[in-house]
Amino acid sequence: MKKILVTGGLGFIGSHTVVELQKNGYNVVIIDNLSNSTLSVLDNITSITGTKPEFHNIDLHNKKAVQSFFKQNNINGIIHFAAYKAVGESMDNPLAYYENNLGSLVYLLQEMKEHKIDHFIFSSSCMAYGTPEKLPITEKTPTNKAASVYANTKQIGEEIIQDSCKAYNKNAIALRYFNPIGAHESAKIGELPNGVPQNLVPFITQTAAGIREQLLVFGNDYDTIDGTAIRDYIHVVDLANAHIVALERLFNKKNKANFELFNIGTGKGSTVLEVIEAFEKATGKTLNYKITERRSGDIQEIYADPTLANNELKWKPEKSLEQALFDAWQWQKKQS
Ligand code: WQD
Repeated sequence: MKKILVTGGLGFIGSHTVVELQKNGYNVVIIDNLSNSTLSVLDNITSITGTKPEFHNIDLHNKKAVQSFFKQNNINGIIHFAAYKAVGESMDNPLAYYENNLGSLVYLLQEMKEHKIDHFIFSSSCMAYGTPEKLPITEKTPTNKAASVYANTKQIGEEIIQDSCKAYNKNAIALRYFNPIGAHESAKIGELPNGVPQNLVPFITQTAAGIREQLLVFGNDYDTIDGTAIRDYIHVVDLANAHIVALERLFNKKNKANFELFNIGTGKGSTVLEVIEAFEKATGKTLNYKITERRSGDIQEIYADPTLANNELKWKPEKSLEQALFDAWQWQKKQS
C-alpha cells in the first residue's frame, strides 16, 4: 500500500483529499501545524472512511522536524497543501508568507531529493495567472504579475518545483485551482474559516445560519451580465479527486514532462448574484444581502478552460454549483 504524505491534510481541501485517497486504497500520513485547522477534523475523516490517518503536528518551516520525519517515514508520494492563503493578509505580512509558503516548500523538496521520493503534487491557484487578458484561461495563458503576495508565492513555488524536478530528475504536477466550495456529502468535513469569512460561500452560509447579519455583495458595476463579478466555483470533492488522478498519472509514469500544470475548474463562470440565486434554490433559504462597493484587489472575471485536465487526466467535475451550495449548507447547519 503506497504511503502518501498530505501536508495541510486537516485543512479544507486537504481533508477532502485525504478521504478520497483512503477511499482509493492509499495509506495516508498527515502533517499539519493546526495554524488554520483543528484536530477534530482527524476524527471526522476517520468517521467517514473508518481509517484514522497517521498524524504529525509539525511546522514545515522547522527544518529539523521535517528532516527527522522523513528519516522515520518511508513516503512514496507527497501532496502539498500546507500554506498561508489569505490574499489580504499576505499584503500586510509578505515576509511571513514568503518564509512559510516558500521555506516549507524548499525543505520538502530537499527531503524528496535525500530520500528518493519521485512524486509531488502541488496545490497552486488560478491566482498564479494574475489578471487574465483573455478568457477562458488555458495552461498556455501567460502569467501576468501576481496581484498579491499570496499569488506570488504560488507563481514562485511553481518555478522552484520546476527547477528542482529538472535538476534532480523528479516528477511533479501543479494543480491551479479555481474557487473551491462545498463540503463532503456526509457533512462531517467542510470549510472552517477562522473568524469572519473572507470567501463568498462561507459568508453566504453563515448569513443564512444567522451568524452574520447580512452578506455584502462587493460591487455590481462590473461589465458582466448582472454587474457582479464572475468566478469558476468547483465542488471541493471534485477538486480532491483531481489530486488522485494526478498522483496516479505520476505513479503510472504517464506524465509527459518532469513538471506539468493543470487548471482544475469547471469551465463555467458564475456571477455573485447567480451564486446567491443558486443557493436560495438549492436550500429554500432567502438570503439577506445588499450591494456595496467593489473589494480592492478583486478582478472582474476569471474562469478555466479545463480541457487539458479533461483529456490528459481523464478528470471531469461531476457536481453542480447547486450541489456544492447544498452541501455547504448541510455542513453549516452542523456547526455549533
Ligand atoms: C468570490 C467573489 C468577491 C465575499 C479565492 C481565494 C483565493 C483563491 C481563489 C486559492 C468575488 C465576492 C466575496 C463577500 C462578495 N483560492 N464576494 N462578498 O476572491 O475569487 O479568491 O479563491 O488559491 O485564495 O481567496 O474568492 O470567495 O473571496 O470571492 O461579494 O463577502 O465573491 O468580490 O467576486 P476569490 P472569494
